[in-house]
Amino acid sequence: MSKNLDTLLKEERKFEADPEMIAQSNIKQWMDSHNIKNYEELIEKSNEDLEWFWNEMAQELEWFEPYNQVLDWKPPHAQWFVDGKFNIVHNALDRHIKTSRKNKVAYIWESEAGEVKKLTYFELYREVNRLANALKKMGVKKGDRVGIYLPMILELPIAMLACAKIGAIHSVVFSGFWAKAFQERANDAKAKVAITADGFHRRGKDIKLKDTLDMVMDDIPSIEKVIVVQNTGSNVGMKEGRDVFWDEILKKESAKCETEQLDSEDPLFILYTSGTTGKPKGVLHTHAGYAVGTYTTLKFVFDIKDSDIWWCAADVGWITGHSYIVYAPLLMGATSLMFEGTPDYPDPGRFWKMIGDYGVSIFYTAPTTVRLFMKYGEKWPQKYDLNTLRLLGSVGEPINPEAWIWYHKNAGNRKCPIMDTWWQTETGMHIITPLPITELKPGSTFKPFPTIQADIVDDDGNSLTESGGHLVLKTPWPAMFRTLYGDPDRYVEAYWSKFPGIYLSGDVARKDKNGYFWIQGREDDVLNVAGHRISTAEVESALVSHPAVAESAVVGKPDILKGEEIAAFVILKQEFEASPQLKNQLREHVRESIGPIASPAFIGFVDDLPKTRSGKIMRRVIKAKVKEEDVGDISTLANPESVDGLDRAL
Ligand code: WT7
Repeated sequence: MSKNLDTLLKEERKFEADPEMIAQSNIKQWMDSHNIKNYEELIEKSNEDLEWFWNEMAQELEWFEPYNQVLDWKPPHAQWFVDGKFNIVHNALDRHIKTSRKNKVAYIWESEAGEVKKLTYFELYREVNRLANALKKMGVKKGDRVGIYLPMILELPIAMLACAKIGAIHSVVFSGFWAKAFQERANDAKAKVAITADGFHRRGKDIKLKDTLDMVMDDIPSIEKVIVVQNTGSNVGMKEGRDVFWDEILKKESAKCETEQLDSEDPLFILYTSGTTGKPKGVLHTHAGYAVGTYTTLKFVFDIKDSDIWWCAADVGWITGHSYIVYAPLLMGATSLMFEGTPDYPDPGRFWKMIGDYGVSIFYTAPTTVRLFMKYGEKWPQKYDLNTLRLLGSVGEPINPEAWIWYHKNAGNRKCPIMDTWWQTETGMHIITPLPITELKPGSTFKPFPTIQADIVDDDGNSLTESGGHLVLKTPWPAMFRTLYGDPDRYVEAYWSKFPGIYLSGDVARKDKNGYFWIQGREDDVLNVAGHRISTAEVESALVSHPAVAESAVVGKPDILKGEEIAAFVILKQEFEASPQLKNQLREHVRESIGPIASPAFIGFVDDLPKTRSGKIMRRVIKAKVKEEDVGDISTLANPESVDGLDRAL
């Protein structure tokens, strides 16, 4: 960045942690048992000796053979728990079967139509073993890749765990993606087997998945077998010798299967990033470090106890689901809720009803969902009993303070702290995040997790305070990705070469004088208005703080005079109507919140914004529209019809 980012929006509200919450928290209890008096001492001690901290945490898991070294760090390559023998599935399942957790519910699953299934740890273990045996019979061996293209059904975690159990590498592709995305990823990874379903339910409709996959199967030569889950019961074409039904093969298999004793550093999965630009990157994670990192963060950030009902309302097709629906909750022996459907179907009360029905105590979602709830209004959460909730979470993009406050009030009854967790597919685990013992500021992701040294730097690597810059990580962490699959040069080039030995996150952020981090968005989401670098997130946040606005997306529009001028697309709350007066009010509102420089030159009202399936606004598409350019590939867009809405608004 040639010039530091101008940060204009300031948020001063603060929320103290509740003393009772502190006293009973996992992190406080851990600190007590290690003679650590307070948060400052925790950070000091763990930052001074990160190997001490992670060794302590790794000892809470089971090892087939102990490691000789916690960390071998030859930047940018790390090995964690060197020479240890380990398997994440042994820790996620096998070890619980020997304890009273055997009969505890691992997953409560609800379909879109409201059908409920529960799976205990023992039942899950047996299903995983059956599939693992079936995969072995198909010739899947340690190190082979398996492409998984499944919706949010229980077979998805089962499939992942079965691969990991035998040392195969899973590559899950989000079921909402078009089959071309699967084709590209399966070819990149040279997958040997594909696991899919006949289809799934979306807003009452049956969406076909196997038929879609069949359109590209001829172009994925590496796939020898396709396993098909019968989920919707719709008719599917099965290719003789290649395609087999899940139920048919599993019923022939034994429910016992040895867990492969792997090296700590053996690969666990590849997950292609949901990037809004460029060719997807195959982020590679490993067994032991990933297990220790995700286990520790779930334990300390979300404070999971045996009595909790945990709901991470993401899709397993994203890293959030991999880490915090599948692996970490099972490592903790927790009970998770898993949901096939969408937040507002059949009505906007669906999530709130489910929280009430299952007594969910910890709920983790994305700001885009919170803003969707805001749009429908307070009456929906008010209809349901949300008193079981004790902690809330946010992830995926900056949560604007207005949405934070709304979530805190309406979901959390003003008592639940919100863990706004910053991390990435690449980091595998939470990196900058509050803990239940810390003070919160709405819109800030608080400070780095113990042992992690994060910083904000300018182009020359100088540390910055109170001004925007590159968010970098200066220390390794156990769940860090090890490489980009098949492209080790890009791993070094994209993440570790701007500042050698330092991880470049690709985000811009600000650190305030008290050390709090404020994420402003991706580097490519920065505007340059008359020489001022302004983050799109700040302008969006200012717009959403107006009572009429539910959601907004801001992009730059080239301007001869100013370099760029600001174009804003706005979704109004249901009770407000679009008008020229309202546009003027919004401009005035941004002017008052941030300053005249940030006031949008153009405002368009839309019903929907183009988003990736993970809910991230696809600014590339909006930018192309604004510049009257071709929108390019929109196959990863969740709502292609939104593009026409942009046209109408322009
Ligand atoms: C990017 C990573 C990590 C799970 C979901 C997305 C943005 C993530 C936050 C947050 C502000 C956030 C960043 C990051 N992001 N969490 N709490 N506040 N921004 O995984 O698809 O790899 O995206 O999401 O821009 O770089 P991902």
